[in-house]
Amino acid sequence: MRQRSFFKRKIFVQQSNHQVHLNKSLKAFDLTMLGVGAVVGGGIFILPGEVASKTAGPGIMISFIIAGLACCLAALCYSEFASKLPVAGSAYTYSYHVFGEGIAWILGWSLLLEYGLAVAAIASGWSSYVKSLLTGFHIEFPKVISSSFNPSNGTYFDLLAFLIVIIIGILLSIGIRESTRINNIMVLIKMAVVILFIVVGVFYVKPDNWTPFLPFGFNGVITGASLVFFAYIGFDAVSTASEEVINPQKNMPIGIISSLAICTFLYILLSAVLTGMVSYKQLVGISAPVAFALQYVNLNWVAGFLSLGAIVGMTTVILVMSYGGTRLIFAMGRDGLLPKTFAKVNEKNTPVKNTLIFAFIMGIIAGLIPLNDLAALINIGTLFAFAMVSLGIFFLRNNKELPTAGFKTPFYPVIPAISFILCVYLMINLPGLTWLSFIIWFVIGIIIYLLYGRRHSVLQNEK
Ligand code: ALA
Repeated sequence: MRQRSFFKRKIFVQQSNHQVHLNKSLKAFDLTMLGVGAVVGGGIFILPGEVASKTAGPGIMISFIIAGLACCLAALCYSEFASKLPVAGSAYTYSYHVFGEGIAWILGWSLLLEYGLAVAAIASGWSSYVKSLLTGFHIEFPKVISSSFNPSNGTYFDLLAFLIVIIIGILLSIGIRESTRINNIMVLIKMAVVILFIVVGVFYVKPDNWTPFLPFGFNGVITGASLVFFAYIGFDAVSTASEEVINPQKNMPIGIISSLAICTFLYILLSAVLTGMVSYKQLVGISAPVAFALQYVNLNWVAGFLSLGAIVGMTTVILVMSYGGTRLIFAMGRDGLLPKTFAKVNEKNTPVKNTLIFAFIMGIIAGLIPLNDLAALINIGTLFAFAMVSLGIFFLRNNKELPTAGFKTPFYPVIPAISFILCVYLMINLPGLTWLSFIIWFVIGIIIYLLYGRRHSVLQNEK
C-alpha cells in the first residue's frame, strides 16, 4: 500500500524538466500591463459611490490607502515566491512546495473562487455598462436575456455577460502573446481615462466637500477598506504567468510591484478628486459615480469617454482573470489533482481545451448571478490566499531545499507578519454569510480532494 500524506511536499524542479511546459515570451512591461489590466476595472468605476456615501465619506481616500497597503505587503511576499519559484499556478504552486499537497489543494480551490468568480462578476458589471451605453442609442435587449436569473423581474439570463466571457476565452485560446498585445492597448486606454478624470476633475474640486472628512468615524474607514479591497484584486494574477516570463527572478517583482504602485496612486487621487467634486452625500445609490461627477459639473463629453474607458477596463479584467484561472487549472491538472485533460496544450503550448471549458462555465455563472452577490465571496477567497502566501514566506526561508536566489521581501520577518495579520483582519471584517459560503466551498473542496485528487496525484503516485 502506497504511503499518501496530506502534507507531502513537491521538490522544486527547473521548468525544462517538466514534460509539459509553457513558452517564455513575457517581459516586465507586459507583466505590469497584465497587472494593471487585472486590477483597474469594475471596482474603481463602481464602488466609490456606494462606499463614500454610506461607509467612509471623503475618508474613502484613507480606505484606499489601507487596502492598498495590505495589497502592497502581500505583493512583496508574492514577488519573493514568483521570483524564486517561477512555475505556473501562483499561490497554489508555492504552497505545494512549502506546505504540502493538502494545503496547496485548499489554496488552489480558493483561488478558483477568486479568478473564476471575478470573471463572472466583472462580466456582469460589464454587461450593465454596455447596456446603459446601448440604451443611449435606443438599442434595447429582449427582457428575458437582459439580466441575471430573476424570474419575478422577468429576466432569466444575461446574454451579454455570457458572450464577453466566451469571446475572451476564444481570444486566450489563440495564444498569450496575441492576447497581451490586445491587453496592452486596452490598459493604456483605461489608464488614459482615469488620468483624464483626475486632470480635468481637479479644477472642479471644492475643498468644502471634504468636510466633515470622517462623517462615519474611523470605523467607517476600516470597513470601507475591506470593501474597496475588491478594486485591488488581480495583481496576484500576474504571478500565475511565471512560467511564461523571460528572466522571472528580475521581471516578476518589477511587474507585480509596479502594477500595484500605479493602481494605488491612481485610486487615491481618483477618490480624492471624486469626493472633492461632489459631496459624498450626493453619491447615495449612484452606480457609476465617476461618470456622475463629470455630468454633475456639466462635462458630459468626458463622462462619455469615461464610460467607454470603464467598459474597456472591465474587458481587460475579464481577460487577465480568465488567464489566471486557466493557468491555475493547468497547474492543478498537471499535478493530477484535477483531470489530466486540463493540462493538455496545443502545438503553440496553449492550454486550449481548459481555456474553453473555463470560459463556458464562467460564462454560464456570469449569465445567471449578478455582481453584488459574488463580490464578498471573491474577497474572502483572495484574502485567504494572500494570508497563506505571507505565512509561506517563513517556510520558504527555512526550507533549504528550495532556491534562495532571487527577490527577497524586505524587513523579514516584519513585513510578512504584518501582511498576514492585516489580511486576516480584513477577512474577519467580512459578513457572516460570506464566511458560511466560503466554508461550504471549502468542504466541497476537501471532499473532491479525498475522492479524486489524493488518488490521482502525480506526487503521491511517485515511486
Ligand atoms: N480589481 C478588479 C476590479 O476592480 C477585480 O474590477
